Amino acid sequence: MNGADLERLVREPEPYAAPARLQARIALHGFGPADAEDFHRWLWRVAVRPDALRSTARVLEVGVGSARMWRAVANLVPSGWSLTLTDRSPGMVAEAGGVLDDLGRAADVGIADATALPYPDGAFDLAFANHMLYHVPEPARAVAELRRVLRPGGRLVAATNGDGHLAQVVALLHELATAWPDLRVDTPERLSFRLENGAEVLRGAFTDVDRFEHPGELRVDDVDALARYLASMTYASDAATAAAVVAWIRERAERAVADGPLVVRQRSGAFVAH
Ligand SMILES: C[S@@+](CC[C@H](N)C(=O)[O-])C[C@H]1O[C@@H](n2cnc3c(N)ncnc32)[C@H](O)[C@@H]1O
Repeated sequence: MNGADLERLVREPEPYAAPARLQARIALHGFGPADAEDFHRWLWRVAVRPDALRSTARVLEVGVGSARMWRAVANLVPSGWSLTLTDRSPGMVAEAGGVLDDLGRAADVGIADATALPYPDGAFDLAFANHMLYHVPEPARAVAELRRVLRPGGRLVAATNGDGHLAQVVALLHELATAWPDLRVDTPERLSFRLENGAEVLRGAFTDVDRFEHPGELRVDDVDALARYLASMTYASDAATAAAVVAWIRERAERAVADGPLVVRQRSGAFVAH
């Protein structure tokens, strides 16, 4: 990735208007051990367990993003399931629709805000809210909506991260924020919906809540990927600032991996609520 690409990335005004920032964040997770189980395949094995669900289940996802779960588990999705995949961002809906088309999988893909879902009570058997409830200003409102649109006994799967997730990269983001105090730099170390408090939030609307942890470790040895992740968390509105902050990011990323891979702790997991 050259400097011009990074400059374009830091000038993307919103985190999810277009997929570029999300793709840069997701790409960092490709630096796990070669034999590591994909996160979403793990999620389906421990939390979704499709065999235990109706073969004609009605399934909703809110905050679908770039639909990466559906790509990862394509061969696990029962053919009789009807999929309704939604996101608040039109750019993400377009991206997700393209992924489902590529997979040759029929799905109703559309815009919806998780706090005001345009579906009747009890319309779904299973719902997903993965790595998105911490973006909703009042996660409890989205959780109540998800409970409403699930049938009695229906199940919500909500993946999220825990305290200390990507701590070594977050430390670099703090350095960046200190060096550039006038810029927006997202330093997401304390999420509003995280492994530590998610069960409490979910119990506001659901009776039973189980938590599953998926710890892991990344060994990031690629300057471009690290620089791209740091840039994906940084917002600069003018060209001169973008060029200067990108130069800072590249230099810092080079130093971070100069003596070997940056070892990064992951703390991800999921809740199942019903
Ligand atoms: C970190 S991405 C996660 C995407 C996907 N679920 C995944 O795990 O890869 C968060 C997504 O939630 C969406 N989002 C944020 N707030 C939302 C809301 N109130 N309702 C619906 N989607 C929302 C964003 O547009 C973005 O696509």
